[in-house]
Amino acid sequence: MRLKDKIAIITGAGRGIGAAIAEAFVREGATVFIAERDVTTGSATAARLGDRAHFVETDVTDQKSVDAMLAIVLLRSGRIDTLVNNAGINVFHDPLETSDAEWQRCMAVDLEGVWRMCRAVLPSMLEGTGGSVVNIASSHSSTIIPGTFPYPVAKHGLLGLTRALGIEYAARNIRVNAIAPGYIETDLAVEYWNGFADPAAERQRTYDLHPPKRIGKPEEVAMTAVFLASDEAPFINATSIAIDGGRSVLYHE
Ligand SMILES: NC(=O)c1ccc[n+]([C@@H]2O[C@H](COP(=O)([O-])OP(=O)(O)OC[C@H]3O[C@@H](n4cnc5c(N)ncnc54)[C@H](O)[C@@H]3O)[C@@H](O)[C@H]2O)c1
Repeated sequence: MRLKDKIAIITGAGRGIGAAIAEAFVREGATVFIAERDVTTGSATAARLGDRAHFVETDVTDQKSVDAMLAIVLLRSGRIDTLVNNAGINVFHDPLETSDAEWQRCMAVDLEGVWRMCRAVLPSMLEGTGGSVVNIASSHSSTIIPGTFPYPVAKHGLLGLTRALGIEYAARNIRVNAIAPGYIETDLAVEYWNGFADPAAERQRTYDLHPPKRIGKPEEVAMTAVFLASDEAPFINATSIAIDGGRSVLYHE
């Protein structure tokens, strides 16, 4: 019960990494609000996790939707201890082939959506006793894989946002950190492999890129989110923890 009685909002928690984080948080004693735009997955995940999980339909790109979600959470729980900004989308292109609409869609969810959520939640953390914000960044926050534009631009920005907010509110007992997963086996990864002529071969190629010869599991990201949200990380602030099996430090000849 490392998160006993904590109140958490987790965006995009209907499936994938966010759902694993919600599950781990509930297991550790938290009450979670699943702020997800997909009604089907959001309500199914909340139902699966039981009484301490609540689905609140939320689109992080829409201010009215975020405001309405916040009002519901505060009405039901009175405070917020943890915000996990997990909602994200892949937009992968050659830079010059990226349309304005694709650029905007990527920034709206992966960067501005996180800021929109922080801006909504931070005042209640500041009024209370503080809190922990956990942003789900990516290996793309510090490295570039050609052909994945503009996703890494947004994810680099997310690291900047994490550091800026972490410093601004550190003296008010608010910690803002990021988790930078490498490849994690979720529907998002499967959808990416399915874009290749031979998805199975691409999957194997991805496994082989990683020192442990496998990719990560959503639960492995969730364990670190629990740690950062808990009282076990009181002096960890404005930083990022990589979860990539060591791939980011592997030297490529
Ligand atoms: N899977 C990976 O390999 C990987 C690696 C590094 C980082 N990440 C990051 O982890 C996070 C979760 O990824 P995932 O693999 O679980 O993806 P996913 O597609 O399985 O889940 C993302 C969830 O976010 C929700 N979402 C999307 N836009 C939203 C919006 N505007 N408002 C609210 N919810 C919205 C989706 O409905 C979905 O449920 C993302 O930020 C992603 O960039 C994933």
